[in-house]
Amino acid sequence: MSDTIAGLIERRFGLPTRAGQDQPASGTVAGMLARRSQRRFKPDPVAEETLEIVLAAALSAPAKSDLQQASIVVIREAAQRSAINGLVESMPWIPQAPLFLVFCGDNRRIRRIAELRDKPFPNDTLDMFMNAAVDAGIVLQAFITAAESLGLGCCPISLIRNRIERLGELLALPEGVFPVAGLCVGHPEGAGKLSLRLPPSITVHTDRYDASRFDSELAAYDARRAKAEPAEPGKQRFTERWGLAEPYTWSEDKARQYSVPERHSFGPYVRKQGFALK
Ligand SMILES: Cc1cc2nc3c(=O)[nH]c(=O)nc-3n(C[C@H](O)[C@H](O)[C@H](O)COP(=O)(O)O)c2cc1C
Repeated sequence: MSDTIAGLIERRFGLPTRAGQDQPASGTVAGMLARRSQRRFKPDPVAEETLEIVLAAALSAPAKSDLQQASIVVIREAAQRSAINGLVESMPWIPQAPLFLVFCGDNRRIRRIAELRDKPFPNDTLDMFMNAAVDAGIVLQAFITAAESLGLGCCPISLIRNRIERLGELLALPEGVFPVAGLCVGHPEGAGKLSLRLPPSITVHTDRYDASRFDSELAAYDARRAKAEPAEPGKQRFTERWGLAEPYTWSEDKARQYSVPERHSFGPYVRKQGFALK
């Protein structure tokens, strides 16, 4: 672990900075800079009290219009857990994690409140759907930050949405509710891997959006990342179609990942869950 905040920023982006040179690497920001998804867990369970605390912290997150449109399903029954584990077989960290939760966007409550209060609800819009998805995402991240600050490790799992119909059935999700992501939680086994982020020159804009240097900045990021995190042998995607690349860069990997249709069942599922997305 680097000694200063600047050191942590440099590790995160692979670029020098002066920001935080005099600040020790401790506290919330240091934890956020050093965080990584954990995919290896000790078998020790997460204590109930810890879970209750982390859930309370997560649910303290801001929420659009105070509607509080996130719901969290904590998977407890062994049979339910093995059914969820069985949805995706390519990720051994899902069955290995002592605790698994599913974070959902929940528009059902405001719809029900409209009925209970005998009011119209002329808001079956894409904006309404997005608000619920964003609320769930913010609660997910708040959960991760709280859990990590207590020494736990987490890995979000959107792959379970590949089996969205079955997942919805298993969780008995009513109309207006949809899964955003699962989350593996547990005590980390090992340090995990820090992944280099796109530079702020790409992701942070001043006054107005500017992509004029994107292509060259991307090439530089690809080179930095290929050096810091060289692709493991055998990990290149779709080599039968695209061959072996050297170096196998982040952008090559992402372009290959999305060169095939992914998760086209989600839109129909969301509509089936009662969203018109107008
Ligand atoms: C909404 C969401 C869904 C994700 N789904 C998966 C997943 O299905 N499987 C997985 O192993 N990691 C998943 N991740 C973790 C990302 O792969 C990870 O955050 C990314 O590679 C950056 O690495 P880091 O979190 O270690 O910085 C997901 C992350 C988010 C935010």
